[in-house]
Amino acid sequence: MNLSTPHGGTLVNRWNPEYPLSSITQEIKLSYAELSDLELIANGAYSPLTGFLGHEDYTSVVETMRLADGTVWSIPITLAVTEEEANNLSIGEAAKLIYNDEVYGVIEIDDIYYPDKQKEALFVYKTNEIAHPGVKKLYEKPNVYIGGPITLIKRTDKGIFAPFYFDPVETRKHFTELGWKSVVGFQTRNPVHRAHEYIQKCALETVDGLFLHPLVGETKSDDVPAHIRMESYQILLENYYPKERIFLGAFQAAMRYAGPREAIFHAIVRKNFGCTHFIVGRDHAGVGNYYDTYEAQAIFLNFTREELGIIPLFFEHSFYCTKCRGMASTKTCPHDREYHIVLSGTKVREMLRNGELPPKEFSRPEVANILIEGMQDHIRKVGTEGAR
Ligand code: ADX
Repeated sequence: MNLSTPHGGTLVNRWNPEYPLSSITQEIKLSYAELSDLELIANGAYSPLTGFLGHEDYTSVVETMRLADGTVWSIPITLAVTEEEANNLSIGEAAKLIYNDEVYGVIEIDDIYYPDKQKEALFVYKTNEIAHPGVKKLYEKPNVYIGGPITLIKRTDKGIFAPFYFDPVETRKHFTELGWKSVVGFQTRNPVHRAHEYIQKCALETVDGLFLHPLVGETKSDDVPAHIRMESYQILLENYYPKERIFLGAFQAAMRYAGPREAIFHAIVRKNFGCTHFIVGRDHAGVGNYYDTYEAQAIFLNFTREELGIIPLFFEHSFYCTKCRGMASTKTCPHDREYHIVLSGTKVREMLRNGELPPKEFSRPEVANILIEGMQDHIRKVGTEGAR
C-alpha cells in the first residue's frame, strides 16, 4: 500500500506570493472561517477545489454530495458577501481577499449568486434550526456567494500553533520519511480522552502510523479552546504513545458540526494530507441530538471505496468497563451500562471548569490536569459565560 493519491488525482497548489496586485481595485472582506478555507484550498488540503464554489458546483454539492463533475464533495466551501458589496463586483474581474486590512489572496470571480440557505441548511445540516451552531453560522453569513479560483499570496500567522501546521506536501513527506505506508487520520475538536485513545490504538494495531490531526479552527464557544487542547495532546502523546508511530498536526478548518456530511469531508481532506485510513466513531462531528449515533458511518455507504480513496475505520461507542477492567465498546463488552464509565462532553467541561478531575478511567490524569489549569486560566480571561 502507498500513501493516498490526492482527491481528484493531483494536489492543488494555489500559492503565489508574486501575484500582481497593482491592477486589482476590488476587495472582499473574509471571515475568519473563510480565511482558513482560502489557505486550505491553496495548500491542496481541499483538492480538487481550486477556489470557492460557483453556483453549479454549489448546487450539486448541496443536493448530491458531489461536484458538478461527479467527484465526491460533501460540504459547500463558499465565500459570502453582502448585496451591497456584490453590486460592486463583476464576473470576469479579480478581487483582493482581505482579512484584518491585509491582503491574503485574490479571487478571479466567475460567479455571483444567491444561495438557497434554507435548502443548504436542510441538506447539509439536516435541520434549519438556528440552535444548530452550523446553521446559525450559515444564516449569519451575508446573502450572496462569490465563486471562482483563488490564489493565496500571504500565509496566515499560525501563532503558537506554528510548530504543528503542515501543508499536505509536508505531511506526505514526513509520512514517507517515517517509512509509513499506511496512516490512519484522526479528527477531533475535543481533548483526547481514554475512549479516543482506545479507538486510535485499535486502529494503530493494523496500520503503520497515526496522524493525530485536531481541528484548531473556529469552534463554538463552549468547546475547549484549541491552545489548551494542543498542550493536552502533547502530554498525552509523550506519556502514552510510541513516538515513532504518531504524528501531531493542527487542522485549521472551522468546525461545521454537520455530522455525517462533515465526516465525509474530514475523511477526504485527511486523504489529501496522505492518510490511507480515517477513524469515524460515534456521532462524528455531531452536536446535540441532530444526528443518530452511527449516521456518520452509514453515510459512507453512498460511495464506493474507489471514489472515496480512503478507508473509513468505524468504531462503536467506547468506554471503560469496570467489569471488563479495561476499555471496550458496545461491540465487545457484554456488561450492563451501569458498569460503563461514560460522561457527556457537557458534564466533562463543567467538571474541568470547576476544577474537578474526571475519573482516571475516563481521562488520563496528566491530560485532565492540563485541561483544568487551562480552563481556569481561560475563565479568568473571558469569564464563566465566555467559556460556555
Ligand atoms: S469531532 O470532531 O468528531 O466532533 P470528537 O472529539 O467528538 O470530535 O470525536 C473525534 C472522533 O472520535 C470521532 O470520530 C468520534 O466519532 C469519535 N469518538 C468520540 N468519542 C467516542 C467514543 N466514546 N466512542 C467511540 N468513538 C468516539
